[in-house]
Amino acid sequence: MNARFVILAAGKGSRMKSQLPKVLQPLAKKPLLAHVLNGLSELSDKAPIVVYGHGGDQVKAAFSNQSIQWICQTEQKGTGHAVQMTSAELADDDIVTILYGDVPLVKNSTLERLQALADKSSIALLTVTLENPTGYGRIVREDGQIKAIVEHKDATDAQHQIKEVNTGIMSVRGKELKKWLSQLDSNNAQGELYLTDIVAMACEDNYEVLSVQADCEWDVAGVNDKSQLAELERIYQQRKAKELMIHGVTLLDPSRVDIRGKVSVGNDVEIDVNVVFEGAVKLGSRVKVGPNCVLKDCVIGDDCVIEAYSHIDSTVMGNAVSVGPYARLRPGTELGDNSKIGNFVETKKAVVGAGSKVNHLSYIGDTQMGSDVNIGAGTITCNYDGVNKHQTIIGNNVFVGSDSQLVAPVEIGSGATIGAGSTITKDAPEELLTLSRSKQLTIKNWTKPNKK
Ligand code: UD1
Ligand code: MG
Repeated sequence: MNARFVILAAGKGSRMKSQLPKVLQPLAKKPLLAHVLNGLSELSDKAPIVVYGHGGDQVKAAFSNQSIQWICQTEQKGTGHAVQMTSAELADDDIVTILYGDVPLVKNSTLERLQALADKSSIALLTVTLENPTGYGRIVREDGQIKAIVEHKDATDAQHQIKEVNTGIMSVRGKELKKWLSQLDSNNAQGELYLTDIVAMACEDNYEVLSVQADCEWDVAGVNDKSQLAELERIYQQRKAKELMIHGVTLLDPSRVDIRGKVSVGNDVEIDVNVVFEGAVKLGSRVKVGPNCVLKDCVIGDDCVIEAYSHIDSTVMGNAVSVGPYARLRPGTELGDNSKIGNFVETKKAVVGAGSKVNHLSYIGDTQMGSDVNIGAGTITCNYDGVNKHQTIIGNNVFVGSDSQLVAPVEIGSGATIGAGSTITKDAPEELLTLSRSKQLTIKNWTKPNKK
């Protein structure tokens, strides 16, 4: 089968009341249109066609790294008109599937069923039965056979009672689609070219119009305003939470976890409330994530513990690492096995060797640290001279006393000890104590000032 996808995305989306075109509105931090496009490459070798109109440049720019065939529909004269714009691109033996840019949660398995039916009969519709079908095109059947789609505004009172509606998604063989599109007229309540009119044409030409019922209403739900966007976000998050639980994750509250990307997990992972995942996150077995953490693009080894309120971005951790509470790991952080980053510690481009500890109130940036190092509270790597960034190199088994500043570029040799409160501007040799402080003085004849 030659599968081809056409995505209608020219509508204005004025109910969003937003500068951002509707199809760029984010669901789980990704544009609606990205959800629609997601996975289509598994079903078709050809680039999908997107019919755009409003905010075209913005939409195109957002997908500049994807292979998409863009077709502009400057005036929106209806769904039939939108698909007509793509006619020249469609091959006779394509099974063309029409999707909407604002219907983000359609499953590939549903599309495959639809395509298979269209391959048999030339035309297949995705329908859904709604308790309240107001506004939708109704599926008109006779003796069970689909005969037409009638738009709500054109329907009779009797047809308004029909609860099976058109989701808008359909698969049609290219040859017939092009023929029927060329016969559309705007003789209807909205004065538009209705794509849905091809159903009656197909029946007239003696084609059997087949249908697939959506598994669930949410699979085919469209988004028109922020309230529907928020509603669909919750549905999406519920599904993602369920997927995690199916993979054996313990979620302390499945309604309080947000997955804006992909999370892969080992066994017996436990996630406390209000954790946000972004990008690609990999959690090893027995990882525990405390409440109110953000984990973005990171790999976390087995048996790691992330305590409350930690923010982790583009970081790789070995096994049994302990982080937080209140830690901020910025891009380029690599933490070795059994290392520990404690509260109010910020790291950036920092390699922390196995068993090393930065337990309290530190900034470690542009740093290469060996194993079994102990960094005292309040230690800062001064990596920036106002213009350039410089490296701090720390060997193995180093002890840095509290409240020290390591002014980069600087190297602390293995086994060295740095006295507390030191400002280290020159390399410190291995195994020795280095400190930089003025001598402690006590002024003998000093008296407290009197209040005047
Ligand atoms: C359409 C269907 C209706 C179905 C409903 C499902 C028709 C005539 N009606 O109605 O049967 O129940 O969807 O939601 O097809 N678009 C364009 N260019 C246009 C017009 C629309 O790209 O000129 C795009 C919109 O951006 C949107 C989609 O097509 O993504 C549907 O358009 P919309 O105006 O919402 O159609 P409905 O009247 O809701
Ligand atoms: Mg609509």
